Amino acid sequence: MEKNLFYVVMDHLPKIPQELVDIALDRVKSKELPATASTHQKDQNPIYERNFTRNGVTKLSRSNPRWGLEDVFSDWINKNITTEWKQLGVSTSIILKGSPHFVSEELNVDQVPHTDETRHYTLMYLLAKGNEDQYTSWYQEPGYPLQRKRDVIMWESDHLKKLGSVIFPTQTWVMLNTNILHNAENVKNERIAIHVGLEVDPFGVFMRTEPYADTPVL
Ligand SMILES: [Fe+2]
Repeated sequence: MEKNLFYVVMDHLPKIPQELVDIALDRVKSKELPATASTHQKDQNPIYERNFTRNGVTKLSRSNPRWGLEDVFSDWINKNITTEWKQLGVSTSIILKGSPHFVSEELNVDQVPHTDETRHYTLMYLLAKGNEDQYTSWYQEPGYPLQRKRDVIMWESDHLKKLGSVIFPTQTWVMLNTNILHNAENVKNERIAIHVGLEVDPFGVFMRTEPYADTPVL
């Protein structure tokens, strides 16, 4: 497999059995917020209101609450995917009405460009997309390395260079390099995904061209 910087579609990895998919979907549709929501543990559950600027306009960045799945997914992931994971979870782009974090459906479309705060890479498996043309984009900040430290959030995003975008299929594993600034865009309706958070790249698919750095390149 050719080495890649941004993402690799891992369609040789097995599909998740329906009974596990059903458990994950139940979890996001239960109206129960993730258990960590009340503690504001950003590293577990990124529910918090965030504004960012694009094209000179201030927008609300979508939040993506994530529920842990370790209790039901560990055995299957260990046997079929990798034992090198750090977190297993399911996220949704929709904050249900009734949640204290719900703002409005129209304001859920955009997401601030960022690097992930809890992982270097993630294996993502999209379960559902409310609109087919949701896409993931990658960016570089001029003067900075491509791969950044964790939890870099580009509240001002107009100066970023967009490097490319891709529409990912559902029911397919995709490995993402979340050290590179990225976001999921045009999410007009639900986007539900299983995440296997990784500190390492157990499949050896990514190029490492530079350390994770956050200092300007002169
Ligand atoms: Fe991310």
